[in-house]
Amino acid sequence: MRTQVGIVGAGPAGLLLAHLLHLAGIESVVLETRSRAYVEERIRAGLLEQGSVDVLTESGLGARLQREGLAHDGLELRFGGAGHRIDLKGLTGKQVTIYGQQEVVKDLIAARLAYGGPLRFEVADVAVHDLETDAPRITYTEGGEARVLECDLIAGCDGFHGICRPAIPPGVLTAYDRVYPFAWLGILAAAPPASHELIYARHERGFALATMRSPTLSRLYLQCAPEEDIAAWSDDRIWAELHARLARRDGADQVTEGPILQKGITAMRSYVVEPMRHGRLFLAGDAAHIVPPTGAKGMNLAIADIRVLARAIEGFCQGHGSDLLDGYSAKALARIWKAQRFSWWMTSMLHRFDGGDPFEHKVQVAELDYICASRAGAMTLAENYVGLPLD
Ligand code: FAD
Ligand code: DHB
Repeated sequence: MRTQVGIVGAGPAGLLLAHLLHLAGIESVVLETRSRAYVEERIRAGLLEQGSVDVLTESGLGARLQREGLAHDGLELRFGGAGHRIDLKGLTGKQVTIYGQQEVVKDLIAARLAYGGPLRFEVADVAVHDLETDAPRITYTEGGEARVLECDLIAGCDGFHGICRPAIPPGVLTAYDRVYPFAWLGILAAAPPASHELIYARHERGFALATMRSPTLSRLYLQCAPEEDIAAWSDDRIWAELHARLARRDGADQVTEGPILQKGITAMRSYVVEPMRHGRLFLAGDAAHIVPPTGAKGMNLAIADIRVLARAIEGFCQGHGSDLLDGYSAKALARIWKAQRFSWWMTSMLHRFDGGDPFEHKVQVAELDYICASRAGAMTLAENYVGLPLD
């Protein structure tokens, strides 16, 4: 089989790339190891920057997002038992929208299938070859049969544990890595969110975040140890910890309990490889970089990479030369590093560091005080949170 762009991975990055290329009249084939049901049910990120909403809407994927997405004008930072609102809309003119990653994925899959775009689930043994030539190939097996996909370009959108990044020869990439000494325990609960805006709480017992998926579904996160065993967290223990960390000095309780539908633990890491290209292979999204979740940049970065990559591929396939493709990695990385800095900063400011010295603790609280008391401080948080411009 032959196509113009072979796309490895049907997460937000791979599916959005296929969609934008289709709109530009460029053929692609998407290969995914998991089943459709698995990728549509995988619970992960939930917050879209305005730029992400705009690209989905402009490419015809906005109908359900406009109907079901929850637009937010602000967020709350809670520390010392008191809440402080950051007026995102007032400061930046922009909003953020709660809409689950799996909903974005469902919309993208539905659009792809509606126009009959090739999207192969449950393939195996995916490997990329001849990356340094003009005719790279992807080999894989489908239903036990070996297949070859000949391409002009390959997009590695196969996430952090995929095969594309490791297929690049040693010595080409430089990796920058930071592992944090904590993780997040996340739950999805059938309970109305107690607050209509997100609450990021710094507490002596550790960080907590109250977010949501709909008016009847709460999503809550708790800082925990990286090696934590989820079995050690009964529902009662999780609720008790959430009540404690989100407690307000005035006694207001802002946790609504309900049946826990799902729980899981997410590791925290900052990671970037440079460059995001080798020959005719281009990396995008988690395949090239991951951020700790504080500040919700993961899926938004994947979408931003794809906006840059899709335009560059368009230029190349329409015969305008390779300048944009050659500039892809540097252009994407300039923005990625700013999101890395922001995610690292939010993580450092809001989490409890075991054994951290009292001086650091005081500086953390002073920083939060400054962010909330100064317009310049609040603006620093707000303009990064709603998403920096692409250009
Ligand atoms: P992915 O969504 O990982 O998609 C990659 C796809 O490639 C997957 O479907 C995978 O099955 C497929 N694949 C892998 N290997 C192969 C192969 N060999 N061949 C073919 N296909 C392959 N971000 C936030 O902002 N907030 C959060 O709360 C948050 N929570 C998260 C929780 C978890 C458990 C994880 C893992 C991530 C979370 N993230 C969060 C990060 C966010 O979900 C990612 O940044 C986002 O999914 C990146 O999209 P992607 O398309 O680059 O990668
Ligand atoms: C969500 C996750 C985040 O990491 C975050 O900072 C905000 C929201 C969420 O899952 O809704």
